[in-house]
Amino acid sequence: MPTATVPFSVQLREASACRHAAARASGFVSALLDGGLGVDAFARYTEQLWFVYAALEGRATGKSPEEDPVAGPFRRPELARTPGLARDLAYLRGPDWRHDLAPLPATAAYAARIEECAAGWRGGYVAHHYTRYLGDLSGGQALGDRAEKQWGFAHRGDGVRFYAFDGIRNPAAFKREYHRRLDALPVSGQEKSRIVDECRRAFDHNSAVFRELGELYLT
Ligand code: HEM
Repeated sequence: MPTATVPFSVQLREASACRHAAARASGFVSALLDGGLGVDAFARYTEQLWFVYAALEGRATGKSPEEDPVAGPFRRPELARTPGLARDLAYLRGPDWRHDLAPLPATAAYAARIEECAAGWRGGYVAHHYTRYLGDLSGGQALGDRAEKQWGFAHRGDGVRFYAFDGIRNPAAFKREYHRRLDALPVSGQEKSRIVDECRRAFDHNSAVFRELGELYLT
């Protein structure tokens, strides 16, 4: 099928499939899923997520769909992850969790790229939004399940609130609607290609974060 006739959501998924597989297979993620890491590694990962979602949900991203027809329709209050992350980190690290919090270099680079897109390129922001939130609603849930099982956290309670999407009753329907919005994105074919490239880049940022976490926690 010529690219123009392939729905944009399918283009995005297919273009990032190899990178998705690489992120899933990274040593850190595999060790986490296999129960081979301690809770400190999980907390350190959760800290990295804080920086990523602070960038995704920060001030530069707060335009309404009317003001921002490209990225606005994707930003939904029920997706917000920073409130849950703040509670998870207070639980995992204690009330002063913000005090010594510092991103790994790969996390800082990732967050900076999201902020750059949020501030100046709405299509790029959509690529980052898709890569994280749709992943969190999909296979990313496995990490929350594993953490509950391994460390006895209450189901989607403190420590794993990040994985709870209380406002989304039917994730499959939500994802279908999200795909429809991607397919209806009001941008040119050339811009779509740039967004696909940015999506690949977003996956690479995730893999770089996993690599650095692996250097710290895998021996
Ligand atoms: C814990 C390891 C992971 C597993 C087991 C996993 C597994 C999956 C599975 C099974 C799906 C398809 C779900 C469906 O069709 O509804 C999916 C979708 C997705 N995953 Fe992952 N994944 C993992 C990690 C990641 C990571 C690290 C990212 C990127 C940060 C990511 C991004 C995505 C995205 C964007 C989708 C949505 C694809 C689409 O429907 O358009 N995943 N994942």
